[in-house]
Amino acid sequence: MKNIILIGFMGAGKTTVGRRLAAKLKLPFVDTDEQIEKEQGRSIREIFEKEGEAFFRDLETEQLRKLGRKDLCQVISVGGGLPVQIQNHELLKELGTTVYLKADKTTLVTRLSGDTGRPLLQGGSLEEKIEQLMQERASVYEQVANFIIETDSKSLQETVRGVCEALHR
Ligand code: S3P
Repeated sequence: MKNIILIGFMGAGKTTVGRRLAAKLKLPFVDTDEQIEKEQGRSIREIFEKEGEAFFRDLETEQLRKLGRKDLCQVISVGGGLPVQIQNHELLKELGTTVYLKADKTTLVTRLSGDTGRPLLQGGSLEEKIEQLMQERASVYEQVANFIIETDSKSLQETVRGVCEALHR
């Protein structure tokens, strides 16, 4: 069995779905954002503030490389911007099966309103920021993904079931 990698926009539920999926499949779970924060000893917000986005993107690529060297099958959730970086496409492909958790703008605005931990969404109109990033990213997510799961009208359990069904297809 290959690694299962969850991709999608911020607020799509990658970490929550990933944890539940890993428990169901009895696999280890890893989240690249959490891993980066642990290794750096500081929050993503602080990393963006002190070092800038490019530095963070390099840390993400380093995480993918490390995961690729592990002889393990895991459920992996990655930050929303990771699949957008072209240098990560081949690494993702080598790492395993990629599942795009798709959510529409209204769902994301509801889920992300009041969030203070995501640097790319701070200041100005949340709706406009999501709209703009979605325009830049949606086609990349679709292109990178082996499977696409719509999450908007689904409960957590239904989404997890949807991922399992896609993987068994
Ligand atoms: C980002 C998504 C975040 C985190 C960082 C940048 C992005 O992860 O990696 O704030 O560029 O979309 P989540 O998708 O888990 O929120």
